[in-house]
Amino acid sequence: MNTYKLFTIILFSTVQLFSQSIPTGDHALGTKSYDDFEVSEVCQSCHNDIYQQWKQSMMSQSYTHHWDEIEYFELAVPHSEVDPKFKPVADGCNGCHTPMAFLAGDVTPPRPEENSRANDGVNCEVCHSIKGFEGKEPFNFNYISDPGDVKFGPKDQLESPHHSTLKIDFMSEASYCGTCHNEKNPENIWVKSTQLEWLEGPYSKEQVPCHQCHMPKALGKNSIMSEKDMVAQHLFHGAHDPGKVAGVVEIRMHPSEREVEIDGAVTINVQLFNAKTGHKFPTGSVEDRILWLDVTATDSEGRVYHLPVDKKGFKGEEYTIGSDELAYVDMGIPLRLPDFKGVQRDGIPVGSRIFRMPYFDKNGIMTIMQWNTHTLGTDYRIGPRETKIETYTFEIPIDAAPGIMNFDATLNYQLLVKPVADYLKVPLEESEIILVNTGSTWIEIYE
Ligand code: HEC
Ligand code: HEC
Ligand code: HEC
Ligand code: HEC
Ligand code: HEC
Repeated sequence: MNTYKLFTIILFSTVQLFSQSIPTGDHALGTKSYDDFEVSEVCQSCHNDIYQQWKQSMMSQSYTHHWDEIEYFELAVPHSEVDPKFKPVADGCNGCHTPMAFLAGDVTPPRPEENSRANDGVNCEVCHSIKGFEGKEPFNFNYISDPGDVKFGPKDQLESPHHSTLKIDFMSEASYCGTCHNEKNPENIWVKSTQLEWLEGPYSKEQVPCHQCHMPKALGKNSIMSEKDMVAQHLFHGAHDPGKVAGVVEIRMHPSEREVEIDGAVTINVQLFNAKTGHKFPTGSVEDRILWLDVTATDSEGRVYHLPVDKKGFKGEEYTIGSDELAYVDMGIPLRLPDFKGVQRDGIPVGSRIFRMPYFDKNGIMTIMQWNTHTLGTDYRIGPRETKIETYTFEIPIDAAPGIMNFDATLNYQLLVKPVADYLKVPLEESEIILVNTGSTWIEIYE
């Protein structure tokens, strides 16, 4: 074959690959069928190790996971029935949570218990058929999905008896993940912005994409018939892995004075350094998550005092300090409870500092229904490599015993605020307290 002919063929196939206009985002609804995608068990026969990792990750449970099922079937879908304006957004949940169902036009998909193909969630084929995204920035499932014989991957010229392969640089970039990890709701509010947070932070400048922390490379075989090589692990471990959450923030604390008179006061400084995340902490489903710092003092006779955080005086600070007021009143709309008063906003000790960004409905009340968010409050999360300082001014109580007084700080995390989890009967694991880290210091009290 002469070079000219070869060149034409290459040019033609490149043009073919990239010029076909494949609908994305909302426009992709119903443009494919389930049969365009292979089931993950087919891939398992040769890629068993990767399959077993994926099966244990949240990706394979993105449709079947209990809290997803509850939020989708008990809040989002009923909300779209009460108010049809929300129909596209409720269908759109599937664009990220079960892309095959969305692309096949199978919306609302059957419940997980019916064991339909929607259950496969974000599976091998979904991810390995993505070759780019449409528009300026990745968000709202604007990925370009092109399933077929060619599986896109990170390596050049691999041979497989089952399929062709093609190296696509895009797969190894953060914007690939951003197609599902950034989300704008119908009010044009960024209700999920993990990739955008990463872009603003230090890790993007150092070319450390999501993959380095969530799909780290290790020596192994990427299929049963491969040679050993560095292989991208399919862990996707995040907030649902207590080991990943452990130690995300390091805590050091010290008193303003070491020796304090019995009727004196001391200020405890607590520094919180986010050493581990590539984006803010918490990120992703920020409307659900709660991260809070509890500080106690224990005197030499074992009496325990709970310390409220010193106020800093910034706008919206009231949402960053544990309170027992009610919120989440808008859940009453899909639940068809017009007189619903809401449930407790935080469910944590009153006075504790919370690191969060509140989401508000149109009445200015906090919501966990991200699609119903009208405004975002002050962002008081801890950014990548950011250090926040909290202070606790404590007047030594007159009943405190002289001697050593210990101060202990505990940084706790919950995937879903407990009062909401309890009200919606979400299984306990979603509101279990996960320990992020602890810190301690002491003073000596003299008479
Ligand atoms: C019959 C065995 C077999 C089956 C079934 C199979 N693969 Fe592969 N696949 C391979 C082999 C072999 C390689 C090349 C591995 C190497 O050389 O390192 C490969 C490579 C890959 C790559 C890497 C491509 C690159 O460019 O880096 C991807 C992605 C991939 N397969 C995805 C899939 C998916 C998705 C499925 C299921 C729909 C699947 N494979 C089913 C054998 C198989
Ligand atoms: C959420 C998307 C996603 C899912 C789900 C997914 N992969 Fe991948 N896979 C990737 C990305 C991204 C890479 C490239 C990682 C990189 O470049 O750092 C990759 C890499 C690979 C590779 C090449 C690994 C290497 O480094 O040699 C194989 C093979 C593969 N995937 C197969 C599979 C199979 C089989 C499944 C299902 C059991 C699967 N993937 C599920 C996104 C995904
Ligand atoms: C096709 C959409 C899609 C793509 C592409 C995608 N994800 Fe996800 N990812 C999801 C969904 C949906 C979930 C939520 C699963 C759940 O909890 O329901 C998720 C969950 C996760 C989690 C687990 C979070 C937790 O709460 O434990 C991590 C980590 C993650 N993704 C990282 C990545 C990375 C890194 C990439 C790029 C290599 C990526 N994702 C690409 C859709 C996607
Ligand atoms: C420097 C390492 C690092 C990088 C880079 C990084 N992450 Fe993470 N990520 C973490 C750690 C640690 C956690 C666990 C703490 C948490 O939940 O935020 C995490 C958590 C997550 C979660 C779970 C959040 C939740 O509340 O459910 C998702 C989703 C996620 N990362 C996606 C991404 C995506 C997408 C990118 C790239 C745009 C990325 N990560 C880049 C370290 C990293
Ligand atoms: C643009 C993609 C996208 C869309 C659209 C989307 N999600 Fe998600 N969703 C995700 C990703 C990615 C995560 C994981 C982020 C994280 O770990 O915090 C997630 C997490 C969740 C969680 C928390 C899961 C857990 O176990 O903590 C629930 C519940 C959820 N989504 C429900 C919905 C519902 C209901 C809709 C539609 C109204 C929807 N999502 C629309 C991408 C999306």
